[in-house]
Amino acid sequence: MIQINVPPLKKLGILLSGRGSNFEAIADSIKAGRLQAEIAIVISNRADAPGLESARRRGLNAQLIPSKGRVREEHDAEVVAALKHAQVDLVCLAGYMRLLSPEFVRAFPDQIVNIHPSLLPAFPGMDAQKQALDYGAKITGCTVHFVDEHLDHGPIILQKTVPVLEGDDVHTLSARILEQEHSAYSEAIGLILSGDLEVADRRVLRKRGRSEARSSEARSSEVKSSEARSSEER
Ligand code: GRF
Repeated sequence: MIQINVPPLKKLGILLSGRGSNFEAIADSIKAGRLQAEIAIVISNRADAPGLESARRRGLNAQLIPSKGRVREEHDAEVVAALKHAQVDLVCLAGYMRLLSPEFVRAFPDQIVNIHPSLLPAFPGMDAQKQALDYGAKITGCTVHFVDEHLDHGPIILQKTVPVLEGDDVHTLSARILEQEHSAYSEAIGLILSGDLEVADRRVLRKRGRSEARSSEARSSEVKSSEARSSEER
């Protein structure tokens, strides 16, 4: 009998506080077979988050862990425990309106990602699309990045650009950025789960890309030295 070992799917934990369209885009990518992963748990800190209801409708393990009036460290400890219990490999913040405590970040080293609606480091924090409009930026976009202890700050995995049009208001611009967010997030998660990324200081690099660059560098220096040898021989 031939034994085929199928590697287990990597488990995602999604944290959200609101609409949940990025969560839905990730869930849709998985369903369509574009992303090889499974959503092990969806956690909301707000009972009224439409994303929580959407996760329930999809039959996912959806949990409410309310944060209102609670000490950050205590709430975070509960969220970390739920994520650990679900054995997640990657934590995806998808409109999660809470700054994570250092203990939370340390519990999942290089395993927490976030999406932000601007080209970081421009316009971190709230209302990034309005910030870009008010500043008069001609190009903005979205960023998927690893999460560290500072707001919208960790190493950048992927960015997509969106032009700011003359007739834009915050709604039209946000809608075009959101469209890019939905593809960027799944793409970035796929890259991480492929195991092909490494973080060197702040730079997130493709391992394969680097080894290909090294071998093509080696090939071109081999060509150069063989050319030098043959011109010496002439
Ligand atoms: C998105 O614009 C995301 O970049 C930001 O919060 C918003 C969440 O939207 N972090 P949704 O809840 O995923 O629809």
